Amino acid sequence: MTLNAEIRQELVEAACQARRWAYAPYSHYAVGAALLTTSGKIYDGVNIENAAYPATVCAERVAIFKAVSEGERSFQAIAVVTENGGTPCGSCRQVLAEFGLDTRVIVACADGTIVSETSVRKLLPGAFTPDDLKPEP
Ligand code: THU
Repeated sequence: MTLNAEIRQELVEAACQARRWAYAPYSHYAVGAALLTTSGKIYDGVNIENAAYPATVCAERVAIFKAVSEGERSFQAIAVVTENGGTPCGSCRQVLAEFGLDTRVIVACADGTIVSETSVRKLLPGAFTPDDLKPEP
């Protein structure tokens, strides 16, 4: 299922706006994300780096954690904006997979140009999901 063009543009715009708040003093690689819930709300996120580098959190996960911490668990799409159309890292793909493989993933550049639109299922083939923890029937 592809996303409505207007909603897609709105999400990319929200991710671009959020990106201005990225805290990336070490990599200087600012990332903005905007997550659309099934209920129609948008949660944004930015990467937040740390002097202890591994404590850094990606923009996608910040958006997901904000949404989940407010009771949202069903997502339609996430837009990710970087200077060069970088795609979500493995950890973010895994966290997205937790909440559904059909979530659309829109990757765009800082000027709003959409580079690709795909799904979590395609970004993380063979994902380990909550279903894998269910007992055999
Ligand atoms: N980053 C994200 O925010 N999302 C990704 O999916 C890839 C990487 C951030 C983490 C770090 O602050 C910077 O980009 C460089 O890795």
